[in-house]
Amino acid sequence: MCGIVAYTGPREAYPVILKGLKRLEYRGYDSAGVALSEEAGIAVHKKKGKVSQLEESLIGKPLNAQSGIGHTRWATHGEPSDRNAHPHRSSNGKLALVHNGIIENFASLKRELVNKGYSFESDTDTEVLLKFIEDIYNHQSESLEEAVRIALRRVVGAYVIILLNEEDPGTLIAARKGSPLVIGIGKGEHFLASDASPIIEYTKEVVYINDYEMAIVKPDELILKNLGNDKVTPFITQLDMELAAIEKGGFEHFMLKEIFEQPTTVFDCLRGRLDAKEGTITMGGVDPHLDKLTNASRIIMLACGTSWHAGLVAEYVFEELCRIPVEVEYASEFRYRNPVVREGDIILAISQSGETADTLVAMDMAKKHGAFLFGVVNVVGSSISRMSNAGAYTHAGPEIGVASTKAFTAQLAVLMMIAIKVAYAKGTIDQKRYLHLIGELDAVPGKIETILESKERIQKTAERYKDARDFLYLGRGYNFPIALEGALKLKEISYIHAEGYPAAEMKHGPIALVEETLPVVFVATKDAYHEKILSNAQEIKARKGKVIAVISEGDDAFAFLADETLPVPAADELIAPLLTVIPLQLLAYYIGNAKGLDVDKPRNLAKSVTVE
Ligand code: AGP
Repeated sequence: MCGIVAYTGPREAYPVILKGLKRLEYRGYDSAGVALSEEAGIAVHKKKGKVSQLEESLIGKPLNAQSGIGHTRWATHGEPSDRNAHPHRSSNGKLALVHNGIIENFASLKRELVNKGYSFESDTDTEVLLKFIEDIYNHQSESLEEAVRIALRRVVGAYVIILLNEEDPGTLIAARKGSPLVIGIGKGEHFLASDASPIIEYTKEVVYINDYEMAIVKPDELILKNLGNDKVTPFITQLDMELAAIEKGGFEHFMLKEIFEQPTTVFDCLRGRLDAKEGTITMGGVDPHLDKLTNASRIIMLACGTSWHAGLVAEYVFEELCRIPVEVEYASEFRYRNPVVREGDIILAISQSGETADTLVAMDMAKKHGAFLFGVVNVVGSSISRMSNAGAYTHAGPEIGVASTKAFTAQLAVLMMIAIKVAYAKGTIDQKRYLHLIGELDAVPGKIETILESKERIQKTAERYKDARDFLYLGRGYNFPIALEGALKLKEISYIHAEGYPAAEMKHGPIALVEETLPVVFVATKDAYHEKILSNAQEIKARKGKVIAVISEGDDAFAFLADETLPVPAADELIAPLLTVIPLQLLAYYIGNAKGLDVDKPRNLAKSVTVE
């Protein structure tokens, strides 16, 4: 959940590391720190708060070094503070370490070390790991590399660690299990980071490090080994992303930029796959496994957060079109619930980052029960994509804003293409419906463009309701998961308490909350449920609740009833979630922005949740 950056080579290390930490700040922003191999030895600088606060505190300080490590933290063990910030230093001061992950058996290791006379500056599991390595280095092993290998064989948990050694200033020792690490290969220099965004401006040649691998990195040498001390040949891949993709491009926030990118990202997601002219859907990751998918006895969607909402929309779509039973599982619950997983079950794991620990461990568990793993992932080369038997990338490009927006609509587009393709292959839909749905999907980018043109209207609605204490979001059918997603976006970005509900559930309790200061957002485009949800809205109006409604253009009945309407172009009800979510993303953004909050880095959140 933290962001890690390191460098060794001829450049000044500090500016490279600092810029990298700023790029990774969406992964965690409780504290930040760097350790540099300076002439006089290792210098450690760390501070509670954002990277900018660390930068400020170092202005004017001599920071000359050609190698170093850096960290931006999302606190797990030990509250956000200067002393719990990374990097941590060894007792003799000669080693420094940054870590992303959780050492689950740190308490027992700490007891062992305390009995040996070690003391600790911080409350972190990371400092325990460092002093555990130091102890082995001092008493058991010749080399630091060997000490790290011995220590990691005794560690339980997830980690990416990078070590700096005063006795060997240009050499970095890194290792990975469960958390992401990528190494950028330059000319006479190497860049290490949690993802490629700090590396892209220097090189496009990268190596993704696998679980249980260690890297010994020098300016002009990269050696990979496993924990058994066997050499591993680095597999070099070319990054296919541009620097511009990770810049704000004139928008005030990444979230707003990413919302406005959706006509392009949905188009990119469909491009080369959906051909409306030919009436075909071609998906390289699906076609070879079409038999498996059409004969699936059950599909289990595994995901968390917004990706889970995409899975819920897909449940409605797959059951409607493919007539395959679908279960949508919170990965964290599925992992520990001892679920029934049978041969023939297809696991559809959905994730933007591809690094969400809950989803990874749930997939691993399902794999052990013989399930086929199909990944729907945005980050190329991520752990979930590499664990999957097959998959489809969502091609939404890097998503920097912590609140997921463009990745969500790309997930919906991919899941819908798979469902339409499987249904047609299975014969559960005829060619007329198949071509109709292809046409509907093909029209989505243009319709999103139209919705984005109404941003002022949505901003005015946001201004009027930004001081509300609570919100309710209601939807039925395909729009029910969108009500959940709208509520999640508002919670994440504005810190206003918001709940999403199936509209008909209101009568069974939540309607007690309704009174004139409660805005109730209806996701109510024209569909089979329209009459029903209209009467649900009347029930709210009858109790003086404020109705904000996402409706189909020209829906006079709802326009007459609602206090505010956010119209979207007409679309097939099955495709509508790709449109109805857009006004809700903007509503949350404008409310959060009107409240002066950091919408790209909301409190207590991180972009990729790499710990259970
Ligand atoms: C959504 O805005 C949040 N960032 C969060 O709920 C996210 O969807 C969840 O953590 C899952 O992440 P993933 O898609 O990267 O697996």
